[in-house]
Amino acid sequence: MKKLGLGIIGAGSIGRVHIENLVERIPKAEVIGIADARANEIKNWAEKLGIDTVTQEPLELIHNPRVEAIVISSPGGTHPEFIIESAKAGKHVFCEKPIGYNLFEIKKALDEVQRAGIKLQVGFNRRFDRNFSKVHEFIETGKLGDIFTINIVSRDPEPPSVEAAKISGGIFMDTTIHDFDMARFLKGNNPVQVYTVGRCLINPKYCEIGDYDTVVSILTFEDGSICTIDNSLKSIYGYDQRVEVFGAKGGVIVFNERPTNAVIRDESGTHIDNPLFFFRERYKDSYLTEMENFISCILEDKEPMVTGLDGLWATVLAIASSKSANEKRPVKIAEIL
Ligand SMILES: NC(=O)c1ccc[n+]([C@@H]2O[C@H](COP(=O)([O-])OP(=O)(O)OC[C@H]3O[C@@H](n4cnc5c(N)ncnc54)[C@H](O)[C@@H]3O)[C@@H](O)[C@H]2O)c1
Repeated sequence: MKKLGLGIIGAGSIGRVHIENLVERIPKAEVIGIADARANEIKNWAEKLGIDTVTQEPLELIHNPRVEAIVISSPGGTHPEFIIESAKAGKHVFCEKPIGYNLFEIKKALDEVQRAGIKLQVGFNRRFDRNFSKVHEFIETGKLGDIFTINIVSRDPEPPSVEAAKISGGIFMDTTIHDFDMARFLKGNNPVQVYTVGRCLINPKYCEIGDYDTVVSILTFEDGSICTIDNSLKSIYGYDQRVEVFGAKGGVIVFNERPTNAVIRDESGTHIDNPLFFFRERYKDSYLTEMENFISCILEDKEPMVTGLDGLWATVLAIASSKSANEKRPVKIAEIL
């Protein structure tokens, strides 16, 4: 069986999810090595997985002749540079979200991808979640008729530290970006305007660094349809991930996933488990499916389901939302483009 040789840049929280999936669950993949700024700290962990090449130098990994594809899961600001270097070396790329913070840098990276003719998939894993895929299928096959509204609720169980928020690109680039992509994925086209209200209701320190912890966005599309995104960094009852789509012929709802669906009724009320804790638990299967999809796109020469353009658009919407919240006005997407 042909195995695809991969190199991973960044073995932090999400990098380790990808590495474990590649090593333990995807027989067509072979992890050749890892590059991480904290190489010394991950060497033992990597060895236990049978990976003995661990370097601090991403370029060394990119130019390793056994590496055919690179998984980029270092912080967002490094993504465009690593995409460019990988493309120049003729290596296919899976890049975590956001594809970058700066549109000019992203455009340069996408130009290089095109020039090199490599495949690029962006880590919008929620598209591979079986529930959201089903909603997409209902919309695509016309079961809901014309779409009127999409309502996305996306609340994290615990906020990042203020220090981490300073380098994550902020709530729009780090968190809401998944919801911007979900809106585009479900609607099948791009919004023309965004109006966002941002608040610091959990911790005023986020506002001191120019960020928010609670945001509500209204996206409007060319055909007049509307999408709301209700986003919070702290939900006391766990990771709250729901979607509702309402159209001319009907509606569809996706509820939270829970450890069990056993409902206990007693004199104090009716009780059920809180939602699965966070992204690692809730989207476990989708991380595996997106990576399987990436590997098969390369081995079978197919187009990835989430492209560089999808990555660019999500960043455009993050920039537009930030501008809207800061300037307290609706922002036309054309202003950003
Ligand atoms: N798709 C998802 O659900 C999801 C979930 C979490 C994070 N992410 C994204 O993944 C990326 C990484 O996030 P994380 O939470 O894993 O961060 P993290 O801080 O846990 O891990 C980042 C890793 O990259 C390493 N690193 C930093 N700079 C580097 C460099 N220049 N070269 C090589 N290694 C470097 C760090 O040492 C660290 O091990 C971010 O873009 C984030 O938005 C996506």
